[in-house]
Amino acid sequence: MSSIDYSQKIPNNVGLSEDRTLQRALEQWQPNFIRWWDEVGPVGSTNHDVYLRTAVSVDPQGWASFDYVKMRDYRWGIFLNPGDASRSIHFGDHKGEPAWADVPGEHRANLRRIIVTQGDTEPASVEQQRHLGLTAPSLYDLRNLFQINVEEGRHLWAMVYLLHKHFGRDGREEAEALLERRSGDENNPRILGAFNEATPDWLSFFMFTYFTDRDGKFQLCALAESSFDPLARTTKFMLTEEAHHMFVGESGVSRVIQRTAQAMNELETDDVTRLRAAGVIDLPTIQRYLNFHYSVTIDLFGADQSSNAATFYSTGIKGRFEEGKRDDDHVLKGRTYPVLEAVNGQLVEKDVPMLNALNEVLRDDFIKDSVAGIGRWNKVLEKAGLPQRLTVPHKAFHRNIGALSGVKVSPDGRVIGESEWQAQVEQWLPSRQDRAFVASLMGRVAEPGRFANWIAPPVMGINRMPVDHAYVRFG
Ligand SMILES: [Fe+2]
Ligand SMILES: [Fe+2]
Repeated sequence: MSSIDYSQKIPNNVGLSEDRTLQRALEQWQPNFIRWWDEVGPVGSTNHDVYLRTAVSVDPQGWASFDYVKMRDYRWGIFLNPGDASRSIHFGDHKGEPAWADVPGEHRANLRRIIVTQGDTEPASVEQQRHLGLTAPSLYDLRNLFQINVEEGRHLWAMVYLLHKHFGRDGREEAEALLERRSGDENNPRILGAFNEATPDWLSFFMFTYFTDRDGKFQLCALAESSFDPLARTTKFMLTEEAHHMFVGESGVSRVIQRTAQAMNELETDDVTRLRAAGVIDLPTIQRYLNFHYSVTIDLFGADQSSNAATFYSTGIKGRFEEGKRDDDHVLKGRTYPVLEAVNGQLVEKDVPMLNALNEVLRDDFIKDSVAGIGRWNKVLEKAGLPQRLTVPHKAFHRNIGALSGVKVSPDGRVIGESEWQAQVEQWLPSRQDRAFVASLMGRVAEPGRFANWIAPPVMGINRMPVDHAYVRFG
């Protein structure tokens, strides 16, 4: 192994070849990463040539190159956005002090925990999505799935680089553990709940990339404000890749809706049985998938009141979404923020110290952003001349974390009893029959330019290539 020149093999802008110790540490981790990829990465994909984007620099004008690549040979690189030596901390108790080029001892444990938690989501989603390639609705979609998979792999590299470079032996141990946990594993699961859920079909995949990759965006944006400068610069570059993941989700769901709307108009019906017989996914099922992924994803932001969130902010480890654009004091002491709680069967707002409510603040920013896309999905229905609309469930619906986890709430925000919940839950969340029906539609379409019956083609291809380009060549 020692003869491999990783300064060539691992594209990077971090001067890897000048840091022999770090280079050796990553040399030792690299074959373990490949072993992990072979074991739980995309099933049966090893010999495919995939038309992939690879990050090659941090220049916004030309940061990626496109070419056919075997995924196992993807050049997972390490990139930090350019630094600014004069950057100063712009929030929390250290506001105005110079940003940290290395980890201050007193914040080491918290920073490590945050980096490990972020890092853990990256391989988790690859594991969750590993079977989907077998049932891709087109070569275009298959390529997008694989693109997301290799980039989540690169995001793991990004976090592992920080662990190896800045956290010594603990960091190396955490980097190994990131390859050992498994999504959904009873004994050694991934850290966060949503990353242990199955992604069994393509509707789930599109909902996941719309909602859960968007959670990633908000977490990365908050970390891009960090006083720990290498973390800020790493996450900033990760965000350039994340945009495509959310695009795949938004356009994917949009294309499913478009195809369903077309069938509804052709058959002049909204009858679920008839639409299912026509091989498209009925809107109530799409709504239930939306409800599920939305609620599971907003749980990822954590408890609505959290002393950890206050600590992360005050110590300067993690900022708010668009911290720099907010015109308050960026210290937040003495300020309050409303959170929800259930009192005597009613949801009521309660003002709590804002520092303790920063998970809720980030969750609300996420909600605003995700609601906008649901509005764009509804435009597809509107354009098709249909009166039906998708709705965003209430924030308190189907929560498993925080104060709201103790109550049952309907999608329209009524606190209800266990018996009403049981009676209605199959109207609100995907039932076993819904999932079985969606699964019955899944089957690989592998001819360039052809699309499964349940989804409309995209408006355009990838990197200005035509929609019917052979995005994957099977080997
Ligand atoms: Fe990621
Ligand atoms: Fe992502």
